[in-house]
Amino acid sequence: VRLALLTCEKYASLYEDDRLLAAELTRRGVEVVARLWTLGVPGDVDAILMRSPWDWPGARERFRAFLRELERAPQPVFNTPAVMSDYADKAYLPRLEARGVRVVPTEAFDATELGRLPQRVATHGWRRVVVKPAFTANAIGARVVEAEALPSLVGELSAQPGLWLTQPYVESIAEGELSFVFFDGDFSHAVRKQPAAGEWRVQHDYGGAALPVNVSAAWVDEAAAILRAAAPGELYARVDCVLLDGALHLMELELVEPELFFRVDAAAAARFADALLRRLG
Ligand SMILES: Nc1ncnc2c1ncn2[C@@H]1O[C@H](COP(=O)(O)OP(=O)(O)OP(=O)(O)O)[C@@H](O)[C@H]1O
Ligand SMILES: [Mg+2]
Repeated sequence: VRLALLTCEKYASLYEDDRLLAAELTRRGVEVVARLWTLGVPGDVDAILMRSPWDWPGARERFRAFLRELERAPQPVFNTPAVMSDYADKAYLPRLEARGVRVVPTEAFDATELGRLPQRVATHGWRRVVVKPAFTANAIGARVVEAEALPSLVGELSAQPGLWLTQPYVESIAEGELSFVFFDGDFSHAVRKQPAAGEWRVQHDYGGAALPVNVSAAWVDEAAAILRAAAPGELYARVDCVLLDGALHLMELELVEPELFFRVDAAAAARFADALLRRLG
């Protein structure tokens, strides 16, 4: 089997963490090749795995078009391209919330609706909020704002195209965000993403650290239930949660190109490789 791992120029020879997976696959007789997503759907491989196309925030529409192209690929693609398209932007959060999934409360506004944002925030009684673009990664464009400052922000936001999300600022982020990693619907491992002192964004670019963490069976069940309700049957998923009023709430469901943190669990890459090979039968 010849398998393409889709990546970007910065990780042309794969992201370090994914090399652990590549090694496991190679050990099982798979020929792993890294391919830039910007070169289009690879034609000379038997299967395609999305991994580290992380330059897409600078090319949003092109990335969407690429996901549509993947829907027409003759080879198996992981995750399912239509599901990746659905989960490429966070407009799914209010949708899941409406279906009863415990999501960090989220309101979505397009440019024509932004004028209503301050009033909606007041209705919820949110004093401090996060405003972030629906289609982004790495916290690009996200900001924390006091409710009183929102009216003066509306103009600036309206000038940028796309959907904006507003959520209450979740104070527990100081203790980190929990990532539950699943392969084929089975829990594999968890990571606590800890922001640097005084920072609210957990990403590595802002000094955040990703640490192995033991999570309770009850939390794993809750994360698994979120995944089943949203997108059952995908090869990989990362369910990112924060604690709000002491309960797990979904912050983001990563089904497109999540870092999978193979490095925190020595058996994780093998579990993923086995799950993938079962799919390729
Ligand atoms: N409502 C919130 N309360 C507190 N912190 C938040 C909130 N929303 C976002 N953050 C912080 O900002 C970070 C980025 O937000 P989010 O995960 O929603 O977007 P992202 O840009 O897609 O990030 P990534 O894809 O890198 O995980 C979160 O990991 C968290 O640290
Ligand atoms: Mg996130």
